[in-house]
Amino acid sequence: MFLVRLIYCSTPSGVGDADIEDILDRSRANNALDGITGVLLYDGTHFLQVLEGGRSAVSKRFIVICNDKRHRDVELMELSPIRARRFPHWTMAYVGGTGLDEVIVSTYTAGGFDPRRMINMDGVMDMVWRLSQ
Ligand SMILES: Cc1cc2nc3c(=O)[nH]c(=O)nc-3n(C[C@H](O)[C@H](O)[C@H](O)COP(=O)(O)O)c2cc1C
Repeated sequence: MFLVRLIYCSTPSGVGDADIEDILDRSRANNALDGITGVLLYDGTHFLQVLEGGRSAVSKRFIVICNDKRHRDVELMELSPIRARRFPHWTMAYVGGTGLDEVIVSTYTAGGFDPRRMINMDGVMDMVWRLSQ
């Protein structure tokens, strides 16, 4: 299997708590079958997601995700080959609400959390990893 990591961000579209629950339920069921792991961040204004897995599985799921009406303006931030997963035990970890520790976020972002302005993907991965612990 050719292992890759894909990072994207997007803007939620009319998303409520029930949508987040549904997204996580579907993600965890599908990703377990597809061998995909990762993390979803949601601060009410942005989604930021890291997907890890086989290139074919991640590509196919990403196309489905892009067409989901619960978000828009999907922006691909990184797609790269990896030797090992950063989130091997999470079919989809979730960080939202109070989980978005302001001290950690402000270490990586100036002037509030806006993934569209983040250009250092090592920083993005470190931030996501620390937030998910
Ligand atoms: C921000 C966001 C992240 C999502 N992440 C995943 C994911 O990691 N895995 C997944 O299977 N579906 C994810 N979805 C849901 C998909 O868009 C789609 O609804 C789902 O894959 C359809 O699954 P089904 O064919 O089993 O109903 C996500 C949706 C959104 C809006």
